[in-house]
Amino acid sequence: MDNNTVLFFDTTLRDGEQSPGATLNVEEKIEIAKQLSHLGVDICEAGFPIASQGDFDAARRIAEEVGTLVEGRKSGQPMTIAGLARASKDDIQRAYDAVKAAPRHRIHTFLATSDIHLKHKLKIDREACVDQVIESVSFARRLCDDVEFSPEDAGRSDPDFLVQVLAEAIKAGANTLNIPDTVGYTTPEEYGWLIRYLIENTPGANTVIWSTHCHDDLGLATANTLAGIQAGARQVEVTINGIGERAGNTSLEEVAMALRTRPQTFKLNSHIDTTQITRTSRMVSAYTGMIVQPNKAIVGANAFAHEAGIHQDGMLKNQQTYEIMRPETVGLTASTLVMGKLSGRHAFRIRLEEMGYDNLSKAELNAAFKRFKEWADKKKVVTDADIEAIIVDEVYQPPEIWQINHIQVSCGDHSIPTASISLTGPDGREHKDAALGTGPVDAAYQAINRIIGVKNWLTEFSINAVTEGLDAAAEATIRIQPVNGERERGFNPQTNRPFARTFSGHGASTDIVVASARAYLSALNKMLAAREEQSSEKRLRVET
Ligand code: KIV
Ligand code: ZN
Repeated sequence: MDNNTVLFFDTTLRDGEQSPGATLNVEEKIEIAKQLSHLGVDICEAGFPIASQGDFDAARRIAEEVGTLVEGRKSGQPMTIAGLARASKDDIQRAYDAVKAAPRHRIHTFLATSDIHLKHKLKIDREACVDQVIESVSFARRLCDDVEFSPEDAGRSDPDFLVQVLAEAIKAGANTLNIPDTVGYTTPEEYGWLIRYLIENTPGANTVIWSTHCHDDLGLATANTLAGIQAGARQVEVTINGIGERAGNTSLEEVAMALRTRPQTFKLNSHIDTTQITRTSRMVSAYTGMIVQPNKAIVGANAFAHEAGIHQDGMLKNQQTYEIMRPETVGLTASTLVMGKLSGRHAFRIRLEEMGYDNLSKAELNAAFKRFKEWADKKKVVTDADIEAIIVDEVYQPPEIWQINHIQVSCGDHSIPTASISLTGPDGREHKDAALGTGPVDAAYQAINRIIGVKNWLTEFSINAVTEGLDAAAEATIRIQPVNGERERGFNPQTNRPFARTFSGHGASTDIVVASARAYLSALNKMLAAREEQSSEKRLRVET
């Protein structure tokens, strides 16, 4: 690899999925991995395979089904598929077994090096830490040619101890050394200094690739990553939309666009196709239920909106007055075609292709077109944002164990909100019920609960208008947690603790109650599928 290229290591499917509520199922992970491949990501961390059979299966299927894709990739190579492992033989073997089918695969192993972690989490001294690094990296290297080592909490570790550990990791065969600021503690000056110090002082430093891994607890993740690049790092660990533990990780899109927008400052290339950024962001947001804040750099709804009159005036005179990036560069297209009631299937397909949705199946296209027609009947003009909401709602949905047929609500300030609902169940039969609620959405949810009968906490609910105007369609996002959630637990490799999984759902409609009911049902379907997956895993463990 030439020294002028920054490699993008995406950990949306591992560190990103560790963020509370970002639970993804196997099919969703595969779809996201495919999109990361289109985006030009160099290394995709597909998960933490020892955590559960589901995590293992997802990483294995990504290795098999996505690890071979090269079409349209700037690098001309398929993505490297990485699996995370704690510094233990069982973890490393499991990670290797999960990713080995990919033509390019990597084991990523980690062990904490800060005194705080050694004393309180691992309860080992520095000497034992060094021994464990040597043992685990050597074991990984015997299985696989591509091994990455991360000294967890490097940001708060003694730099000279890091030099000692990293020198041993290089001797044991690591080819990439990743320096995590695990708790987002450092400032750009400190993080840049640390990377430079390690590169200058670690014996063998020039035989490996140095990597950044920053968390955003102080809002400094992107700044720290860029400082790391300027100090000599040539791999960045990032996630889409910056999702991740607590305040999240460095955003892929921010680093990619900084390199592209400031070529004179960085003088570095990447393999990222920035025109895929918006689409990837939208997909990750839909699948994880993590809404992107409107003012988020690059992918927020307002990132390219020039609202204030003075800005618009400047923009009309010369775009460069207030715009440092063109919206097209990140894949935002301005429609020239007005879509409405009279637009046919052909025009709809062409518009979808222009928007980058050129690989929908016939069934997905038919379902999306049917929804488009329904919306066009209710709204004069169907915008790109509406079409995108339809695609997200129709295509990025979990398998429909339960499906909505009809929903009817009555409400007002003089009546008790009432909802009646008809669903098709997993038995293929129609199930009907009705319920009262504190409002129309609550009534609809109570009616669904009466039919499906799965206890859950509603932890988050939001509803947004897709476009401006009173006739705007609505997008609802919801998160639920099972009440007795021991059957749907995830496992955090860093804290070594299980956690209750949260399931998100989304729905779009020109009617806010219908959008909310669709979102609730999509979250419930995810939860039921996870429950089914987990109990077949248990059955498997009992049988084997
Ligand atoms: O933040 C961190 O330290 C990590 C490591 C496992 C790389 O995510
Ligand atoms: Zn991390």
